[in-house]
Amino acid sequence: MARDTLSKCLFPAAGYGTRFLPATKAMPKEMLPIVNKPLVQYGVEEAIEAGLTNIAFVSGRGKRAIEDHFDISYELEHQISGTPKEQLLEGISSIIDTCTFSYTRQVEMKGLGHAILTGQTLIGDEPFAVLLADDFCANDGDGVLKQMVKLYQEYHCSIVAIEEVPMDQTQNYGVIDGTEIQEGLFKVSSMVEKPDPKDAPTNLAIIGRYILTPDIFDILHTLPPGRGGEIQITDAIAEQAKKRMVLAYKFKGRRLDCGSIQGFVEATNFVYSAYYDNGENYPSKEP
Ligand code: G1P
Repeated sequence: MARDTLSKCLFPAAGYGTRFLPATKAMPKEMLPIVNKPLVQYGVEEAIEAGLTNIAFVSGRGKRAIEDHFDISYELEHQISGTPKEQLLEGISSIIDTCTFSYTRQVEMKGLGHAILTGQTLIGDEPFAVLLADDFCANDGDGVLKQMVKLYQEYHCSIVAIEEVPMDQTQNYGVIDGTEIQEGLFKVSSMVEKPDPKDAPTNLAIIGRYILTPDIFDILHTLPPGRGGEIQITDAIAEQAKKRMVLAYKFKGRRLDCGSIQGFVEATNFVYSAYYDNGENYPSKEP
């Protein structure tokens, strides 16, 4: 049943982050800081801006620092209470006050589709958003999830965020095919996970923002492994698109791939020059 109000955002966060070794040997990749804030916090802030305050993590072994980050730290707060450093915790404290957090573990790494299916126990039978924290998105106006929630309220169907990528990079993304029904909005006819450029239907690549209707779980339950022998969310949404409308939305804003060293450095430079380049240790405005 279509519901207007979305409240839950799922964060798949079980991956090992091998591209950032040795930094990620004993620390979750989601906790790598962009300047002074962990990557995952930017994602949670984007979810809150979109009205999604029920935050669900699919985590795994070695990820406990994420839970500690979104919790009170009595000793530390007592220590800096009444000093100028107190303001550095204002953002995270307000997140903790605003949101509820729930966690489940993906025991085996069997792909993004499998991670999302693992999150079913936290989501239940309602539409939800998925945010891959690796994809850092920056906007002057509404954040990407907020743009997508507005679309969901109009169309009540699954929606994936897309951007145009150079044709020789399609093998790094899920790629959609479809018909443009209004500027920047496509009705999806099919999608394929990480196609070789010669097989790619378009250069419209899926980025890590999804809104999914809960029937996706039924599809994931019976879906055979796809690319790389893993359960792919792209294949599940492609199945869904055969039965009902699925949209792909060219979001407004800029995405930086923090799953790569280069994208991570670009995001760091972007945040530093946008918020901190004032010769002080504190941001010139709220990041
Ligand atoms: C995942 C998805 C892919 C999507 C990408 C966006 O791939 O499988 O369809 O385009 O996220 O970041 P990953 O980057 O985890 O390999």
